[in-house]
Amino acid sequence: MVMPAALILGEQVVDHMFSRTGGMFGLWFPGVGKAVMLADPALVREVFRAPADVIDSSEANRVQEPVIGPQGLGRLDGAGHRQLRTIMLPPLRDHASLRLCETTALLAQRVVDQCPTGTPFALRPLLHTAMMEAVLSITMGVDRVRQRGEWHEPLRQLFRRADSYEITVRYGLRHAGGLALWPAYHRAKDACDRLIHAEIGRRRRRGEEGEDLLGLLMRARDERGARLTDQVLRDQVMSLIAGARTTTATGLAWAFERLVRHPDALRRLTAESDEGTQDVYARAVSYETLRVRPPVAFVGRVVRRPFELGGRRLRPGTTIIVHLRALHHQPGLYPDPTAFRPERWLGRRPGGYGWMPFGGGSHTCLGDQLSLMQMKTFLQVFTRSVTLSPAGARDEPIRWKAVSNSPGDDCRVVVRRRS
Ligand code: HEM
Repeated sequence: MVMPAALILGEQVVDHMFSRTGGMFGLWFPGVGKAVMLADPALVREVFRAPADVIDSSEANRVQEPVIGPQGLGRLDGAGHRQLRTIMLPPLRDHASLRLCETTALLAQRVVDQCPTGTPFALRPLLHTAMMEAVLSITMGVDRVRQRGEWHEPLRQLFRRADSYEITVRYGLRHAGGLALWPAYHRAKDACDRLIHAEIGRRRRRGEEGEDLLGLLMRARDERGARLTDQVLRDQVMSLIAGARTTTATGLAWAFERLVRHPDALRRLTAESDEGTQDVYARAVSYETLRVRPPVAFVGRVVRRPFELGGRRLRPGTTIIVHLRALHHQPGLYPDPTAFRPERWLGRRPGGYGWMPFGGGSHTCLGDQLSLMQMKTFLQVFTRSVTLSPAGARDEPIRWKAVSNSPGDDCRVVVRRRS
C-alpha cells in the first residue's frame, strides 16, 4: 500500500500503519517519491547486510547536502568515505580519554549552575547550547568566550533554516530552484563557510594545524600524498557539527524526562553517582533512553538494484526508511517494549538489529561512543548536584521535526540543589 506523506502526519499514524501491516508499509513522500517504512528487525538486518551496489547510503543523505555539502561524510561512499572515517574515528572513540571526560564533567557542572532552583524551566535549550560548545571545541578547539559568540549566531541562523519545514518543501522543489533561490539560507551558509575557511587559512599561515579534529584532517594525506581540499575539510567540519549539535542534547533531555517520571530509576542512578565507583546504571539509563526515545527518528537508504524485501520487489530509486522508535518497540524484541526500564541493560550490552539509535553499517554514527560518554557524565554530575522532579504530570509527547524526536515541552523540570 502506498500512503501519501504519512511522515508529515505524525507518530500516531505511523504506529497505526505498523500495527495494521506488521513491520513494513509503503508510502509516498514529496521530493523523495516512493518509499517503504520498516520496523521489522529481520528486514532491517537484510537491508543493512545488503551489498553497497544494491543498497546505497549516501543517496539517502542527499537531503543533508544543503548543510554538510556534497563531500560531507554522509554523502560519500567507498574509499574516500573510509579514509575520512579512519582519520576521525580514533579520537572520537577514545572515550576513555581523561581530558575529554574531564572537560565534559566541567561542562555538565556549568549547565547545573545555570539551572534556576525551585522553579519549572525547560532544560533542553541549556543542554543544546552545551553540546554545541562541546562539538565546536572537539572539532576546532573553539573554546574561548569571544570565539564562541562568533560561531554561535551564524550556526544558529543556518540550522534555523535546516530545521524548518520550509527546507522540506524547498528540497522537494529543488529541481525548480527551490534551494538555489533562497537568499536567507545562502547568507547563513556563506557566513558559516567564511568562518571555517578563515580558521583553515589561519592555521595554514601559522604552520600549525592543531590537535583537534580539523588539525587531524589538515595533516592527512591520501594514497598519492595529496592533502584534503579546503572544500572537503569544510564539509567534514559541518558534518560533525550537524551530527552532534542536537542529538546528544535531545538524548539527555529524554533521559531526564523519563527519569523524573520513574523515581525508582532516578534514586538508583543517584545512589550510584554518589557512590562514585561505577557507571553501570548510568550506562543502562543511556541505552534505555536511546531505545525508548531515539533522538534521530529514522535512518534512510536507497535501492540501487532491484531488491526483494519481505516478499516485495523494490525498484531502483525506492527509499527505505528504518523507523527507529517503532523498531525498538517491536513486540518480541523486549518484554513490555514501551516501558522505560534501565534494568534490562544490566549485565547486557546493546547490539544487533533491535537497538539502532546510531544507525548501522558503514555509515554508523561517528559520535556514538562520544555521546554515550557525554550522556553518562551529564547524568552523573546532575544527580550528584541536584534533585530533579517533573514540572507537569503528563509524559512529554514526542515532537517530531525534520529527522529528530524531541520532548514536546523541551524537558520541563524543577531542580533543587542538594546539600
Ligand atoms: C545521542 C547522540 C547521537 C545520535 C542518536 C546519533 C545518531 C546518528 C544516526 C542515526 C546516524 C546515521 C547512521 C546511518 O545512516 O546508519 C548518524 C550519523 C552520523 N553522526 Fe551521529 N548521532 C549522535 C551523536 C553524534 C555526535 C556527538 C557526532 C559528532 C561528534 C555525530 C556525528 C555523526 C556523523 C559525522 C555521522 C555520519 C556518518 C557517516 O555517514 O559515515 N553524531 N548519527
